[in-house]
Amino acid sequence: MAFDIEMIKKVYARYPERIEAARKAVGRPLTLTEKILYAHLSEGAASQAYGRGVSYVDFQPDRVAMQDATAQMALLQFMQAGKNQVAVPSTVHCDHLIQAEVGADQDLIKAKDKNREVYDFLASVSNKYGLGFWKPGAGIIHQVVLENYSFPGGMMIGTDSHTPNAGGLGMVAIGVGGADACDVMAGLPWELKFPKLIGIKLTGKLSGWTSAKDVILKVAGILTVKGGTGAIVEYFGDGARSLSATGKGTICNMGAEIGATTSIFGYDEKSAAYLSSTERADVAELANGIAEHLTGDDEVYANPATYFDEVIEINLSELEPHVNGPFTPDLAWPISKFAAAVKENGWPAKLEVGLIGSCTNSSYEDISRAASLAQQAVDKKLVAKSEYTITPGSEQVRFTVDRDGFLDTFGQMGGVVLANACGPCIGQWARHGAEKQEKNSIITSFNRNFAKRADGNPNTHSFVASPEIVTALAIAGDLTFNPMTDSLINEDGVSVMLDEPSGLELPAKGFAVEDAGYQQPAEDGSGVTIVVSPTSDRLQLLDSFKAWEGTDLKGLKLLIKAKGKCTTDHISMAGPWLRYRGHLDNISNNMLIGAVNSYTDATNSVKNQLTGAYGEVPATQRDYKANGVGSIVVGDENYGEGSSREHAAMEPRFLGVRAILVKSFARIHETNLKKQGMLGLTFANPADYDLVQENDSIDIVGLTTFAPGKQLQVVLNHADGTSDTIQVNHTYNEGQIEWFKAGSALNLIKAKA
Ligand code: F3S
Repeated sequence: MAFDIEMIKKVYARYPERIEAARKAVGRPLTLTEKILYAHLSEGAASQAYGRGVSYVDFQPDRVAMQDATAQMALLQFMQAGKNQVAVPSTVHCDHLIQAEVGADQDLIKAKDKNREVYDFLASVSNKYGLGFWKPGAGIIHQVVLENYSFPGGMMIGTDSHTPNAGGLGMVAIGVGGADACDVMAGLPWELKFPKLIGIKLTGKLSGWTSAKDVILKVAGILTVKGGTGAIVEYFGDGARSLSATGKGTICNMGAEIGATTSIFGYDEKSAAYLSSTERADVAELANGIAEHLTGDDEVYANPATYFDEVIEINLSELEPHVNGPFTPDLAWPISKFAAAVKENGWPAKLEVGLIGSCTNSSYEDISRAASLAQQAVDKKLVAKSEYTITPGSEQVRFTVDRDGFLDTFGQMGGVVLANACGPCIGQWARHGAEKQEKNSIITSFNRNFAKRADGNPNTHSFVASPEIVTALAIAGDLTFNPMTDSLINEDGVSVMLDEPSGLELPAKGFAVEDAGYQQPAEDGSGVTIVVSPTSDRLQLLDSFKAWEGTDLKGLKLLIKAKGKCTTDHISMAGPWLRYRGHLDNISNNMLIGAVNSYTDATNSVKNQLTGAYGEVPATQRDYKANGVGSIVVGDENYGEGSSREHAAMEPRFLGVRAILVKSFARIHETNLKKQGMLGLTFANPADYDLVQENDSIDIVGLTTFAPGKQLQVVLNHADGTSDTIQVNHTYNEGQIEWFKAGSALNLIKAKA
């Protein structure tokens, strides 16, 4: 991967100068997070200090990673940018569309058949534009990234919320929407609100039954699912240095569960060991050369309260194994208190299934420690009482743990090895009987345990724990079992206890793999044809949006005046619609179907001003489009909050809505609208929202002199012949106004290509 090492050299070469500039600008010692962020400013060396939690800053990430569900629209958009190659090293990982049912081999064959058109499309786009393509079965995005691409001091964005996993190897790695990935691949800067910083000091050392997973389970209990919002969590201290790189990855991965922007550990000997064992000794050598910049300054860690917005301290020597749940990952129970909680709350104590692995917990260390328990079960004549599944994070891990006999051991315990893919973690689990919706308990080493996530059954009580605890509880078949204190009765009727798990951080014989499942892109992709069937209902090539016509917009029909909460889920629902993520026309049939019509309080029912009849929102808008009539959407406060899903901005643009006028926007959605060439406006006086009437015909005036900071006027022409003229604000800067005029940001990039 020569491309990568050259890129890493360039990144490291600029570190000394940029860190010096940052120290000068900030005027104090720096945390690791600040070093990495300031080293990746799009402006180059820092000329000013940025306000944490305040300033919006442009960054230049080093890499992009995408999983197959989100990559589809990101790449369809990228194709619009008119580039021959991606601007930064990027990869696609086929992990989300494989359903777990019988076991790895059969499930993979079925998935390849079912998703063939999506895989063929992603493979061909990757081949053409220079992206690394990881085929179905190659592994889960975050594990594959950790093994191959993450590097200390780097910055990466990924179209998946657990992208922060790479923080285990010292990378600022942040989950984003497809539009952001598209921008960075097209060479544009990437904007982020400069984060706040939470410092977590780890002291002591893990031992016995406790593992790295328990650190984040404990942190989730302290900070709750919202406690990390807008912040990067930086771990430091002797305890941090004692953890394996993959253990650190687990902690960073699950930082998503506290809402953190990302989490990070500094570069240390464990990072170097992991890099070397994954055939990247050259990266470790480069990192050693700038090691002082790949950790926070000594003074910062000596007096963390001065430099972090919040500091937490955890002593690993005193940390107990935890079980979190059900239904939320921040309900944290030390194992000594868990049995009582199960009884008091009436949760089903009988454990149906234990599931280990996933992107969160499928390192060699995890698997070997879990296998040590499985081996004990066999040796001590214990028959596992629960079903048990193993999801390896990558083919490299799977091949290696198979070579070392662990999969065999799991098999003897009755375990089933699933494909190297997300599977049950993302609800791709054909769990037999789930449709009966019976109350039951499962325990996983995954990260999320919201209702219905694993098997669609709202009554499945899902708990999260380390692979070791999951395995022990699966052997017992009982949630109230505490392996540290309780014994089990074996086949001979003898009472036995499980010994502490043991394992290896890294394989003694090294990692091995026969076919990692990687497709190297073509050197010159100009001759590669993109494979999209014109009859596909899942994929559709995009057409450029039309440029602005150069005049004010007159006679727009009010499509909907939405009342109250209108999140990206209300604008573009998930669930069954995810199937159409790569087909803008088809997915547009969900446009605004969750929004509440302020005149009727109904959802998905609006008045068609051309016919006077009420109809579904997408159908009504399609009628306006067919008749060449523009429309406008009016909304309430914080319109577009929620995910960064770009479909919520693309769908109205695609169906011919010309403007979104609201009391206030969620910032990411507002930016997404701007990128798609849509007008996003806010009422200068929020009370003017009440002036908008159901039968209004609306003009937007002032576009010919559209300028930053200058208000526009909106004329509400009411059905009774009267009208109201109101002032509206916008936040477009010069560049964004150019996006609007060109029809979209991508149109502009294409014009300049
Ligand atoms: Fe996949 Fe679950 Fe991770 S869905 S990427 S294994 S969080």
